[in-house]
Amino acid sequence: MASDIGNPLLTPDFVSYPAEPGIVSAQTLDNTVQVTWADGATDRFHHFWLRDHCPCRTCINPVTREQVFEIDSVPLTVTPAEVGTTDLGGLSIVWADDGHVSHYHPGWLRENRYFDGPAASAKRRQTTWGGNFEMPSHDAEAVLTDDQALYAWLCDLHEYGTAFLRNLSLEEGMVGRVAERISFMRQTNFGVIFDVQSLPETNTNANTSLELPPHTDLPTREQEPGLQFLHCMTNDAEGGASVLVDGFRLGEVIRDRSPEMFAALTQLKIEWRNTDRDTDYRCAAPVIGLDDDGDFWEVRFGNFLKGPLRVPADQMEGLYRAYRAFMQESKKPEHRVTFSLQPGDLMAFDNRRVLHGRTEFFPQTGARRLQGCYLDRDELLSRLRVLERPRA
Ligand code: OGA
Ligand code: ZN
Ligand code: ZN
Repeated sequence: MASDIGNPLLTPDFVSYPAEPGIVSAQTLDNTVQVTWADGATDRFHHFWLRDHCPCRTCINPVTREQVFEIDSVPLTVTPAEVGTTDLGGLSIVWADDGHVSHYHPGWLRENRYFDGPAASAKRRQTTWGGNFEMPSHDAEAVLTDDQALYAWLCDLHEYGTAFLRNLSLEEGMVGRVAERISFMRQTNFGVIFDVQSLPETNTNANTSLELPPHTDLPTREQEPGLQFLHCMTNDAEGGASVLVDGFRLGEVIRDRSPEMFAALTQLKIEWRNTDRDTDYRCAAPVIGLDDDGDFWEVRFGNFLKGPLRVPADQMEGLYRAYRAFMQESKKPEHRVTFSLQPGDLMAFDNRRVLHGRTEFFPQTGARRLQGCYLDRDELLSRLRVLERPRA
């Protein structure tokens, strides 16, 4: 159990915040508390906001660090009777109505300043790439055993949307062992760990020897799997070269070239479909998803997974123009990295950003088998945050 239960500077989460800069003075100003930090900066926090975020052992459950206190149990006019600083540079408040005492960790308060607009949420850096990209590669054994190596790999995976592991043991299921270094795998109708190989009877073009043009997997789902790992077990067949394309780069290129096409790709929905005898998955969404800042958020694309296009007649030609342009860009050597997987290679990519594909292969010339799995993006981000927590 955490040793800091009872610590007056308990925080409402499991992050170890820096104690510097501490708070050197605090006073009430209108309906706020104004604090002055040791570095000279000042900030203000509303009284009701502070009351809502009291991290004491009655207001939050110290075991889960989730809130027990409910803000509708006090008036919005809740006011301090006393405001001061603690020995450790925190903020202390005694509340007027009921004498409740709150102590706030300076690092937590500093992190959560909002008065002049929340500090620009530091988005993790993402760097787009083209056909001459040297894919980052990391040692599988190190990633399996060492948290720093894991962190370095995951940072590359997030920044570039792809990063390889080399020399992963060819034992069955190793792709899952790697995934478990991050978190839970995402189960789908293809299983938890799936094999990619040419089969006579199959419900997916992936399990044939056909070429797979650049695509994302499962655009047919409300949320596409965030990460996809493909571990090469055998690759003796002629053909079957692997292809990766940065979908965000394709988006940039089209945005620069044609605002009309970019609007069609970001606004018009395509219904992606994967139907089998017993399943019928469908999701209608644009090819390119943007976040609230207009930054690239996700890509959905798989020509062999698209349902009939259905938009009003006056938009159909524009949609086809944009769709074809995206498709054509995805096939240009200036955007695609092509390589041949070796046994022991694990290609990892953000399936909501990077398109993958393979050239046709010829099973009569040799065996080709990959083992794959998916994880959600949440799992990657959660692992990154935990690995970034300062060590006590
Ligand atoms: C897939 C896939 C690529 C390959 O299974 O979805 O795209 O190299 N496979 O076989
Ligand atoms: Zn409290
Ligand atoms: Zn695929």
